[in-house]
Amino acid sequence: MSIIKLLSKKLEKTIFTTPSHNQKPVFSQNYESFYKNDYSEIEGFDNLSDPKSSILMAQGKISDILNTKQTYFITQGATTALLAAMKAIINPADKVLVARNCHKSVFNGLILTAGYIEWFMPDIDNEWGIYTTIDPKKLESTLKLNHYKVFIMTSPTYEGINSNIKKISEICKKYDTYLIVDEAHGILNNFSDELPESAINQGADISVNSLHKTAGALNQTAILNINRQIRNIDLSIFQKSINLFHTTSPSYPLLANIEACICYLNSKAGRDEINNLISEINKIKKELRRYGVEFMEFENPDITKLFIKKEGISGYDLSDSMYDEYNIEDELNNAIGCLYLCGIGTTKQKLEKLKNSLKKVRTNPSFEPIKTDFQPFPLVKLQPIETFNRNFMYVNKEDSLLKISNKMILPYPPGIGLLYPGEAIQKWHLDYLNNDVEVIV
Ligand SMILES: Cc1ncc(COP(=O)(O)O)c(C=O)c1O
Repeated sequence: MSIIKLLSKKLEKTIFTTPSHNQKPVFSQNYESFYKNDYSEIEGFDNLSDPKSSILMAQGKISDILNTKQTYFITQGATTALLAAMKAIINPADKVLVARNCHKSVFNGLILTAGYIEWFMPDIDNEWGIYTTIDPKKLESTLKLNHYKVFIMTSPTYEGINSNIKKISEICKKYDTYLIVDEAHGILNNFSDELPESAINQGADISVNSLHKTAGALNQTAILNINRQIRNIDLSIFQKSINLFHTTSPSYPLLANIEACICYLNSKAGRDEINNLISEINKIKKELRRYGVEFMEFENPDITKLFIKKEGISGYDLSDSMYDEYNIEDELNNAIGCLYLCGIGTTKQKLEKLKNSLKKVRTNPSFEPIKTDFQPFPLVKLQPIETFNRNFMYVNKEDSLLKISNKMILPYPPGIGLLYPGEAIQKWHLDYLNNDVEVIV
């Protein structure tokens, strides 16, 4: 089916995925006339690669709202924001510590910067089969042993788990390591007392936010934030770095969407919408608990993300049943549960539909809860830079054990690698591999 045809069809499903806006404009702009606002950088308009007027003013306004030294607008997603942040900080052969639950763009950033990777394992919750927080003590022990130029981590996680960035940033400063926090899922943290503080306000040197995931903005809108207290760096390197990756034809409708999004979130209406969403979520949680539905609870959570399991059914079957019988699509699922993402644009009606469907899903009283053994420790054989454009061959799956993979195994979402190029293939990877496996020669 053509893209045009696909978009002209009415979607039958209720989706709890990104983008959160429910396919309706949330802010004051009128997107029916997207074309009307689609200009290039003509006379009188500003230039994203060297902003001097309207873009500079808009970025300044948003920077004030977010309490940053500088906030840059990006119209190519958090992916580009991360690449730009990494390029600004990392020189070839710099040692980089990366939390294993980082998005694949961080690995790609190391191919582009030629930094040397060392993985840091976040804590793991085997009851839910997911990564959780970064343990500050474990981080300190790691930083004591070696100097790393930068530590890159994700908080909140896809499932809404926030790490203690305040403590982590103090430790990073103590060991002269920059801290980049991928806060792609966490922009709402700036605008509600019911949510944790933003990564920047807790001391991260750099953070990136996607605005399309939970904040009601359009796909590809993102920002890159620099802390007022960042040390020993000439700020101009960030613009230079953005300009390496960013299109020279940025979309004005998307730039305006970024400005409108943050201004809305910062308004009374925006803050009320977030708090109302949280209060509606708390209500449905209370009711659903009586129907055998369990929610992943964690210290300091992002309550807008609902990671759910139900007694008597696996996560995969719950996902299928909700999709096939109740027309509800989750953002992602695993053997244990399903993730329903909410945000700006998630209506009370949508939440009611989710609640009523979750109540009704049929379960099996003799179902044995699945126990995961989620311990995906990597065996790194080659650095990311050494894996790009290498000669490779195909081997049978059975013969691939301990050979060096040329490919990623990467379920998307969440876009977190189970195996990256340059890592040895382990027994537990075999379940995810096709018969012909690409290995580096
Ligand atoms: C944690 C995290 N970081 C970065 C990204 C990339 O964001 P974007 O799609 O805005 O490029 C994603 C996308 O799923 C993500 O989950």
